[in-house]
Amino acid sequence: MTQFSLAHTSPLLAPGFTMGVATSSFQIEGATGKAEPCIWDRFCAQPGAIRDASDGLVACQHVELWQQDIDLIAGLGVDAYRFSVAWGRVMHRDGSLNPEGIAFYINILDALAARGIKAYVTLYHWDLPAYLEDQGGWLSRETAYRFRDYVRAVTEAFGDRVYSYATLNEPFCSAYLGYEVGIHAPGKASIKGGRQAAHHLLLAHGLAMQVLKQSAPNAEHGIVLNFSPTYPATDCDDDRQAAMLADEKFNHWYIQPLLEGKYPAYLQRLSSCDRPDIEEGDMAIIAQPLDFIGINYYTRMRCTLDSAGEPMEVGPPTGAETTAMGWEVYSQGLTDLLTRLHSRFSLPPLLITENGAATDDELVDGAVVDEQRCRYLQHHFEAVEKAILAGVDIRGYFVWSLMDNFEWAEGYAKRFGIVYVDFDTQQRVLKSSAQALTHLLTQRNRS
Ligand code: NOJ
Repeated sequence: MTQFSLAHTSPLLAPGFTMGVATSSFQIEGATGKAEPCIWDRFCAQPGAIRDASDGLVACQHVELWQQDIDLIAGLGVDAYRFSVAWGRVMHRDGSLNPEGIAFYINILDALAARGIKAYVTLYHWDLPAYLEDQGGWLSRETAYRFRDYVRAVTEAFGDRVYSYATLNEPFCSAYLGYEVGIHAPGKASIKGGRQAAHHLLLAHGLAMQVLKQSAPNAEHGIVLNFSPTYPATDCDDDRQAAMLADEKFNHWYIQPLLEGKYPAYLQRLSSCDRPDIEEGDMAIIAQPLDFIGINYYTRMRCTLDSAGEPMEVGPPTGAETTAMGWEVYSQGLTDLLTRLHSRFSLPPLLITENGAATDDELVDGAVVDEQRCRYLQHHFEAVEKAILAGVDIRGYFVWSLMDNFEWAEGYAKRFGIVYVDFDTQQRVLKSSAQALTHLLTQRNRS
């Protein structure tokens, strides 16, 4: 299957539904012109931190090749492009703006506008300036206030060019992977640290939302969260309990404070030493009204209890299809996630801000036939359709990713792009999935 098939009446093809592609700064840009290195520059330099010992110094060389990349995006026929701003590209250590960095993004924003493509800008996609990590990083409350200052300055500089701002991308990954288990930058590991970082990230989000109302009043404002809907590994009571606890620990830990101003009951299970310090008034700052929540979905999580009674992931069932990341292909999980969130919370409109798959793509005779990704996307389009038909308000869908890029701790070996990147020559080649997406969108524009 290398074409997508959706009914003409599909809500995904309706005029108001936004279809886009997504990237992030550190994963594609390269280091040229940055004012400050970030925690990922440092993390990459640690032996063993990145599977293929690579770094983000060159990446997709997007800083040099951005014009051709914007043309590539326009050629796909998408409505929107989601990308992130590197804090350390646009702001110096003393808080002054770096004109070269600001100009880089303004050029991109203007090029998108000239092609009729809406800009969905993420203000933080994990690349904290390294000097802020030296002052405590997300373990320090001060970082939330520095984020607010950065957001004010950069969004004032961008003026009315941005359609949609997301404060943070996947605070779970920044906090849990970066400060609780340490497999992402800055590589710190403690339960208290992870929970404290999460709290400060959420605080930073709330402070930024307050600022955005003034600095970018005409844009929509929200946040992007990742979710793995949880399922009991078997039907037994312990596994059911595990799925419920994992849902609180990994999913509700982020969305519940945002929507209800409180952490889930899982907070009480943490020993008092591991609970985050929360100051009076924090939860009200965190729970700012949201114009949207961005949902990133890749796979589900099957759970059991470990010997200490804590939820534990068991991995895909035997024989299940997996992607190159080893993640189970489970499109029903996306429908379940969206309908569960809809019935549990009072939600703002949702966007699917990331969905996609890493597959073992090869360039053969100038072509990349990424059959598995095409199937994955087809089934996940259908999963979104099902959720919309079940009453969930979903306004858009972004494929992760526009092009192959630096997949964090996995380096360049895992390819998520619908466009293939030859990292030796920086040549971009449309994979079958990109061609199929273009075809789908062309049909839509004509109907
Ligand atoms: C989520 C992250 O936002 C993105 O940076 C990453 O590449 C994808 N997941 C795939 O792992």
